[in-house]
Amino acid sequence: MPQEQRMELKTIDQLSLAHKRVLIRVDFNVPLTPGQKASEQKVSDATRVREALPTIQHALAQGATVLLASHLGRPRGTVTPALSLKPVATLLQELLGRPVHLAPDCVGPAVQRQINQLSVGAVVMLENLRFHAEEEANDLAFSRALADLADIYVNDAFGSSHRSHASVVGVVQHFEDKGAGFLVRREVEALSSLLSAPDRPFVAILGGAKVSDKIGLIHSLLPRADAIIIGGAMAYTLLRAQGVKTGGSLVEPEKIGEARNVLQQAQQQGVGIHLPQDHIVTAEMRVGAATVATAGADIPDTQLGVDIGPHSIAAFRAVVQSARTILWNGPMGIFEMSPYDRGTRSIAEAVASLSSCFSVAGGGDTVAALSQAGLTDRISHISTGGGASLAFLESGDLPGLAALRS
Ligand code: 3PG
Repeated sequence: MPQEQRMELKTIDQLSLAHKRVLIRVDFNVPLTPGQKASEQKVSDATRVREALPTIQHALAQGATVLLASHLGRPRGTVTPALSLKPVATLLQELLGRPVHLAPDCVGPAVQRQINQLSVGAVVMLENLRFHAEEEANDLAFSRALADLADIYVNDAFGSSHRSHASVVGVVQHFEDKGAGFLVRREVEALSSLLSAPDRPFVAILGGAKVSDKIGLIHSLLPRADAIIIGGAMAYTLLRAQGVKTGGSLVEPEKIGEARNVLQQAQQQGVGIHLPQDHIVTAEMRVGAATVATAGADIPDTQLGVDIGPHSIAAFRAVVQSARTILWNGPMGIFEMSPYDRGTRSIAEAVASLSSCFSVAGGGDTVAALSQAGLTDRISHISTGGGASLAFLESGDLPGLAALRS
């Protein structure tokens, strides 16, 4: 997004909120503790809720009544008690230190009645938007029904702004007074700085299971980055494109042609793509199974890769150490299964040890790995958006942000 367009994004501090009802779209799509009865569930990672607090607190301090709207999970238009926003409302009540009322639904007469009885300064959590199929269909009447609840609209759901859904896109046209929340502003500023004038060398570290999720990002990074480190299972497809043997490792055969193409383009543009030159491999993927480091980049037919090897760790760390700007998205191995977390952890430590480097990390697994290692506060910006941050870095804009500017 060009600089001038970014400036056009009005933010909540430019809106008059006193005595108004403000509908704030938040992304409270948070993990819940597994294995609990629906009525006993708790939020297991409160990051997204905490990150939305400055916007909610600002609206309350300005004398607004706050209506919060979010989805949770993928109930696909069916009322699913296990995906109620009740545990989120309970957590938010503790964090705000004031009552948070859970509405019986997100639209309809019962919700409207509840809202009509609210006094200034009340906070209502609307029930899961995706209990209605109309949300994902960006349905006009559903957008209208949501808009009828409030006077002002604020989007603070950066993590959902790549979705053209009713609460993110359709609803916006019904409001004259609208803007972005502080979380959206922080995300846009941090990610835009990677796209416009990053301090060099700019090193991107990409990982995760599938090259298909990140090939668009690699293309958009080629004119910007000085080096791209690639680990995780996505590296196996790129290695196959170079003729390296990958044994039983996860490969996307239909993406090998595209992978070859992106490697050629990187070479033409002088961008160093750093792929693993050795691997940790196993014959069967289960906790406690024997592992071994390969001697080189090839993986024997009977083995599959689960992490980057020690030479790759050393080589990747050396590239990281030269960086003034870092983007990291995706783990280097199956980090959730110890000891296959060694590569991811070593890279996390290398990024965290840089003192004069602007670092941005995004994606659920990357953030979980940093948080497991206790290193989140050593990263300049942790994005709350997984798919949204990738989409923003690919195209420089998101449907939810474009809607706010229109
Ligand atoms: C996310 O967690 O990435 C966002 O909340 C979007 O969720 P979705 O992928 O289910 O649309």
